[in-house]
Amino acid sequence: MAEMKPVDAFDLVIFGGTGDLAMRKLLPALYRRFADGQIPADSRIVGVARPHGDDESYRASVREALAQFVKGADTSTIERFLSLVSYFGLDATQELGWNEFAAELKSRPSRIRVFYLSTSPSLFVAICERLRAHELNRDGARVVIEKPIGNDLASATTINNDVATAFDEHHVFRIDHYLGKETVQNLLALRFGNVLFEPLWNAQRIDHVQITVAETVGLEKRGAYYDNAGALRDMVQNHLLQLLCMVAMEAPASLDADAVRDEKLKVLRSLKPIDANNVGITTVRGQYRSGASNAGAVPSYIEDLGKPGSTTETFVAIKAEVDNWRWAGVPFYLRTGKRLPARVSEIVIQFRSIPHSIFATSAGPIAPNRLVLRLQPDEGVKLWLMIKSPGPGGLRLQEVPLDMSFAEAFGVSQPDAYERLLLDVVRGNLTLFMRRDEVDAAWRWIDPILAAWKSGSEMPKPYTAGTWGPSASVALIERDGRTWHDSDSTDP
Ligand code: BG6
Repeated sequence: MAEMKPVDAFDLVIFGGTGDLAMRKLLPALYRRFADGQIPADSRIVGVARPHGDDESYRASVREALAQFVKGADTSTIERFLSLVSYFGLDATQELGWNEFAAELKSRPSRIRVFYLSTSPSLFVAICERLRAHELNRDGARVVIEKPIGNDLASATTINNDVATAFDEHHVFRIDHYLGKETVQNLLALRFGNVLFEPLWNAQRIDHVQITVAETVGLEKRGAYYDNAGALRDMVQNHLLQLLCMVAMEAPASLDADAVRDEKLKVLRSLKPIDANNVGITTVRGQYRSGASNAGAVPSYIEDLGKPGSTTETFVAIKAEVDNWRWAGVPFYLRTGKRLPARVSEIVIQFRSIPHSIFATSAGPIAPNRLVLRLQPDEGVKLWLMIKSPGPGGLRLQEVPLDMSFAEAFGVSQPDAYERLLLDVVRGNLTLFMRRDEVDAAWRWIDPILAAWKSGSEMPKPYTAGTWGPSASVALIERDGRTWHDSDSTDP
């Protein structure tokens, strides 16, 4: 078991402290790190929301959230954790209360100070302005912002400019929680901590890459946001492109934040443009119709949304290409969707076939090697290899996985992505956070796809809830003589 190193004591302010993200993710993540002894007891966690509560009622909501979202949370640890938690009622757009708030924070002047903006981006400018006016942005204070960082390049620029009025880039932590997932960091370990893979990690040896992020959930209660976003903005612009970057980037000189982010940026800038000329053959968008999930019958997207006529996509598949020497001609097939049959996120590296077989046809077919990095639900890595089928009966070949499930191998459950990311903010480590130019480059690739969809006459293709998306998604990859990796089964 790795040694848990405590971070320095800090003050973390969560704007939007009563919101869903704070209750479901941020506070449970902080609780777990506290329970493991990584957060010093004199740290402070301040929930800020519109003025209508007090410390006691806020702590009661946090207590309830922890009981609900942290399995096995223990009552006495919860109470110790709650002694770090307080509440401040503030309206970002009104000056009332800001003097007291600033005085409270300044009472511990040399503290690491973190402001988590878990609010609508429309409030960022007001919050940042006040933080600056009250000089709370000084002395290395950090700000954390979440996606959606804009709806397109222009709106992302506005948000980033707003934040930049108070914080320089080295103090801005843009969270993409996929980068906090264990397997994603394991990709770095696997690629750059071993000599085995890197010589094969190129167009000479890799046939193609697949990145799938499948969800069983539907719209949930996020209609207002999701219907404006859709799967391309909600998942591809950030999570899937970040995963693609981790697979495709060159070896950075070190794990230094800018070294890693420079390499990711080069990948984003090498993405072959998709626009009205090729959108029809490189993208598929879908929208779920009623069907079945593992929980039984489920309504369509339109019924979930309660607004007929919406053309928002809940599924997208894309054939992307990274136009550079390493990846020339290697497609990266991306797909993500809601109401698919399983909750699965994985990256599949499909190697090329052997150049020549020495085996008789009776030995059976030789499947090319495949490396599967599973992000969820069960994190781990599988490398599919050909071996001789054991026992007598002639030489028959069989495909078997070298299988490493992290939970089984290490006997520990994987930490939630926010646990690592929040402590990285406190440590001031920007490696797993998106730099502004990365966000811009991702939008530069996404915007023309959105524009092409908008100008075309095609609507999202319907798919039945509980299936793997529209049949056009299967056709997208089969046209190239390939198939989607069967994420349902443990066998290839
Ligand atoms: C969020 C999206 O960023 O990621 C959601 O807004 C999505 O729509 C979620 O459900 C998926 O995250 P995870 O960690 O559950 O795969």
